[in-house]
Amino acid sequence: MKTTQRLVFGRKSSRLIAAVSALALSVSAFAAKPTLENSPTRLSSNENAFGFTPKAKEAMIASLDSGGYYNRNNVNELVSILAEKENVPTDYILTTAGSGPLLMMAALAYAEPGANVVTSQMGYTQLVRKFEQRGGDVKYAALSDEMGYDFEAMRSEIDENTKIVYICNPNNPTGVLADSVELKQFVMSVPPEILVFVDEAYLELSDVNFALATCSPLVKLRENLIVTRTFSKGYGLAGFRIGYSVSSPEVIDVIDDFYMGPPSYLAAIAAIEAVKDTEHLAMNIENYKSVRSYVCSEFDKLGIEYAKPDGAFIYFRSGLDQQMLRDVMKENGILISGSRVSGVPAERFEKWARVSIGTKEQMDSFLSILSTLIQKA
Ligand SMILES: Cc1ncc(COP(=O)(O)O)c(C=O)c1O
Repeated sequence: MKTTQRLVFGRKSSRLIAAVSALALSVSAFAAKPTLENSPTRLSSNENAFGFTPKAKEAMIASLDSGGYYNRNNVNELVSILAEKENVPTDYILTTAGSGPLLMMAALAYAEPGANVVTSQMGYTQLVRKFEQRGGDVKYAALSDEMGYDFEAMRSEIDENTKIVYICNPNNPTGVLADSVELKQFVMSVPPEILVFVDEAYLELSDVNFALATCSPLVKLRENLIVTRTFSKGYGLAGFRIGYSVSSPEVIDVIDDFYMGPPSYLAAIAAIEAVKDTEHLAMNIENYKSVRSYVCSEFDKLGIEYAKPDGAFIYFRSGLDQQMLRDVMKENGILISGSRVSGVPAERFEKWARVSIGTKEQMDSFLSILSTLIQKA
């Protein structure tokens, strides 16, 4: 349902948007309910606005009384289920509190002064920043023209000090998916002593068939490869903190020194139900795809350029100052992300921003503010 509401500009953003003269603009109201109580609409952190399976909630509630025990049974059960799903032995699976810890573990295990990690410009920064903090270097390969991976450029960055090649597929913040044939050929061609890290946090939301696109089957062909997944995105369990990796036990041995312990038993219970409820996941994926293509078509109408999105977000060029756009959105109850620009001069993407895919109502609110700002600019 749409009503009319005034667009709010705070003092800070008012200064920034001198070009936008009218302070009272009519836009559609925010029909969407906040994702957290008393919080703005969060289109900034790629959280799942469609919700996790109710079966996970039921199962967690039914298991609360076991909370007094160091209960590993559920995690072990989850590992067996995931091993079957990934078609690997159980010692190929490592579960953690979200997939973020796996990115950190790899960085901590391999970073040292003189060592480097090779990745692409405009990628997810959790691993590479930790690598840098620990004294290592980051070598950024140029993007392709479509803001995707250029594997030849990546290959040319690899040298005798490279310890990890990190690929996020689809990439964050650009949302661009790598060509699966090119990606797999590249993974297999990296010198065997280098760890290839493929972060597939958003892969189930891609338009391309998951089974064709995932690199996890390659872990049986290449020892030095790790593929990570999370229950935070497509499955919608971000707050419960659970993710996992698929790799040879040899890779686990190396990163295991930095293991901080298993996810909680409740998160494991939720994840078990989430994996079993394939219908719910399919529904979520459908929601993502349909809202994503809706926003793209609205961007097309507005003449807004964007990178081809295959994840839970869209990276777009509004032509407006990124900070001003974020401020005005925030003042009107919507958080979006400027997204960190890694490996390129910040000025190159200062008119770009990243918006997470929310419900259609949430996206309509966002689009309404955006189009108003663009018209007034
Ligand atoms: C590409 C990518 N990888 C990994 C993560 C880590 O997520 P989590 O720790 O919730 O699994 C994120 C979070 O936004 C992400 O965008």
